[in-house]
Amino acid sequence: MSDPILRAEGLSKVYDGGYRTVALEGVSLEIPRGSLTCIMGPSGHGKSTLLHLLGGLDRPTAGKVYLDGEDLTSLGPNRLAEVRSRRLGFVFQFFNLLPVLTALENVQTAMLLAGVPRREQADRSRALLRLVGLEEKMHARPGQLSGGQRQRVAIARALANDPDILLMDEPTGNLDTRSEEDLLAHIRAVHARGKTIVIVTHSESVAAMAERIVRIRDGRVVDGETAARRFTNGRPGR
Ligand SMILES: Nc1ncnc2c1ncn2[C@@H]1O[C@H](COP(=O)(O)OP(=O)(O)OP(=O)(O)O)[C@@H](O)[C@H]1O
Ligand SMILES: [Mg+2]
Repeated sequence: MSDPILRAEGLSKVYDGGYRTVALEGVSLEIPRGSLTCIMGPSGHGKSTLLHLLGGLDRPTAGKVYLDGEDLTSLGPNRLAEVRSRRLGFVFQFFNLLPVLTALENVQTAMLLAGVPRREQADRSRALLRLVGLEEKMHARPGQLSGGQRQRVAIARALANDPDILLMDEPTGNLDTRSEEDLLAHIRAVHARGKTIVIVTHSESVAAMAERIVRIRDGRVVDGETAARRFTNGRPGR
């Protein structure tokens, strides 16, 4: 692949708490700039772990993650936090909006660390909520929003600092078909603006819009297939 924006090399992650778990083992992959990639695989096989490592949210036991050639795993905590807030947007598997804040305030909080001037924060947050079709709900708190609407707030927040890469963990996991389609339209719109998108998903409809699918099994990549291959042989491999 010619121009990967993200590259993982030999990533392993061992969780060593009460249960020792090898969550990832020797994963190498490249995420092409501007691409839309889906990561799929059974529950508990390491997808969220991989996404967290790609986003610099956690450190691997072994291996490296390069963002535009810069090794994220070697950065100190301050520089890593800075790179994360400027270049990466993250939508977590489970909603992590702050329940006491409104939609608008939830989006705005993400701008604090990146030092967006105060008077710009509200305007930009409003524009992002408009992008995900939620302008009229901007003063609602998460508890007053549906699951799909909350995910849209989470996407708006992930876009707060105009990141190059959007990493999403099961963004449609709790949604009915209609809300899923609606959310996908918004994700497509974000992709059309040139963002690189990586989505962990179990959903075939989400996977259908991917240019590339990375399959994870037992903490390893078992198949990286391109849309072209997928459409020519018809059936997902292995
Ligand atoms: N913080 C943690 N401490 C210990 N073990 C963990 C931790 N996080 C994940 N694991 C273990 O690592 C393995 C991979 O977990 P991970 O969350 O990456 O799976 P997943 O593919 O995202 O699953 P799902 O589809 O259910 O979200 C699992 O066996 C899980 O129990
Ligand atoms: Mg997961």
